[in-house]
Amino acid sequence: GRLLILHGPNLNLLGTREPNIYGSATLEDANDVCRAAADAAGFAVDIVQSNHEGALVDAIQAAQGTAEGIVINPAAYTHTSVAIADALGAVGLPVVEVHLSNVHAREAFRSHSYVSPRAAAVIAGAGIQGYRFAVEHLAALLRG
Ligand code: DQA
Repeated sequence: GRLLILHGPNLNLLGTREPNIYGSATLEDANDVCRAAADAAGFAVDIVQSNHEGALVDAIQAAQGTAEGIVINPAAYTHTSVAIADALGAVGLPVVEVHLSNVHAREAFRSHSYVSPRAAAVIAGAGIQGYRFAVEHLAALLRG
């Protein structure tokens, strides 16, 4: 099976972007974590990063029929995007939401997520290892 790993806006800057909050690991490091965890669980991955809301919606729609589940860090769109939440609802695949930082320990606006009601699990504050937990959990869900 295949998993879609989706990274939202500004996550292409991981490693240099506010490292005190997001750590010094790069997006490629995060993707390596995803690939290793998926490989160990017997899944392949498609990985998409976009700074554009509509491109993320397109990638979610395209997952229908190509992927069995989605790991998503919607980044800032977590807190704003009805469109991404609706796309996740429309495809109906199992979703695990990841945040590098503990969004609940930050500004109040980061505590609300439009995506969480669609997520089987939410992992926040574990840095890039959160992607490993997300992939492992999604693989376990899909295994039944
Ligand atoms: C983030 C948290 C969001 O609030 C923020 O807008 C991001 C990254 C995280 O991974 O901690 O861009 O999703």
